[in-house]
Amino acid sequence: MSDGGFAGFTGSSAPQMPPQVSSPVRPREDQASEALPFERPLTPARPASAGANGAVAELGPTGRPVPDLPEPPPRSRRGDARVISMCNQKGGVGKTTTTINLGAALAEYGRKVLLVDFDPQGSLSVGLGLNPHEMDLTVYNLLMERDVTLDDVVVPSGVPGMDLLPSNIDLSAAEVQLVHEVAREQTLQRVLAPAVEKYDVILIDCQPSLGLLTVNALTASDGVIVPLECEYFALRGVALLKTTIDKVTERLNPKLQIEGVLGTMYDGRTLHGREVMERLVQAWGDKVFHTVIRRTVKFSDSTVAGEPITTYASASAGADSYRQLAREVLVRCPDA
Ligand SMILES: Nc1ncnc2c1ncn2[C@@H]1O[C@H](COP(=O)(O)OP(=O)(O)O)[C@@H](O)[C@H]1O
Ligand SMILES: [Mg+2]
Repeated sequence: MSDGGFAGFTGSSAPQMPPQVSSPVRPREDQASEALPFERPLTPARPASAGANGAVAELGPTGRPVPDLPEPPPRSRRGDARVISMCNQKGGVGKTTTTINLGAALAEYGRKVLLVDFDPQGSLSVGLGLNPHEMDLTVYNLLMERDVTLDDVVVPSGVPGMDLLPSNIDLSAAEVQLVHEVAREQTLQRVLAPAVEKYDVILIDCQPSLGLLTVNALTASDGVIVPLECEYFALRGVALLKTTIDKVTERLNPKLQIEGVLGTMYDGRTLHGREVMERLVQAWGDKVFHTVIRRTVKFSDSTVAGEPITTYASASAGADSYRQLAREVLVRCPDA
């Protein structure tokens, strides 16, 4: 797999944005088909698009008009939960932050939410105020011990309507021990089966690797959300993640879908941030969420406080972004 062509992407040598023109210059067809998504030349900045009635739609941070994202209706029927993994083999891109805050925002909209900490670092559990050394039972016990049930391990998260399956470093042993199990890739799916009947949404916080634990998470899921830090180097490696998702879809879980790609730690004041966003949209098209999470220290502060930003700083822009993401997820998955 080639990551070539990235070297030319720097603030100074990147193509200059030309002034708005009526017919954007496009790459030649043959060039476009050979180029990797991130290598294609940037198209000129698009003007705000005029709708049928001549009204000019406001362009969002992703360069596309932001659709109407209505207040979600109450969940109409109680069917199986929508299971969504937060997945990116790079660390520090906002997987755990997105799991906590998207979950809390969905709970605010009346969904019954279960968060699954599936990273042996246990950041999700710590981020919700748990002490990793004081956990009796964790996801590890649920995976490896037949007599441990879901109800034995689930704890309240502190947010009404949202529960947690906690983890700590014990989970790292599961990666090794699972190798010898029958149907090792389906272990998480099997133990989550009772939860699928009880909850509306289950969010799985993956570890930063594409190993057996992550394959278990993808096998147990209906959808994947890929959080991506809006930094140039964050774009590297996404092709490998896509290959892993495709393999799991082909071999283990045909229903798996990419729910969306989420730009995190976005700084719209810098050309760099805007360029990365533009390249994301070039590569992933409509899979990129209209919602973008901006960089703010409030997220680290709320982690220290052990609660979601939606309760720690309820009126902050960060909390609002995750509420918007929740509405966008519910528009994309109306059955959640
Ligand atoms: N939008 C953001 N702005 C600023 N800091 C953020 C943002 N999202 C996450 N962080 C911080 O970045 C660090 C890594 O985020 P985290 O969600 O733990 O990533 P991952 O789970 O992918 O490793 C944490 O300290 C978190 O508080
Ligand atoms: Mg994490």
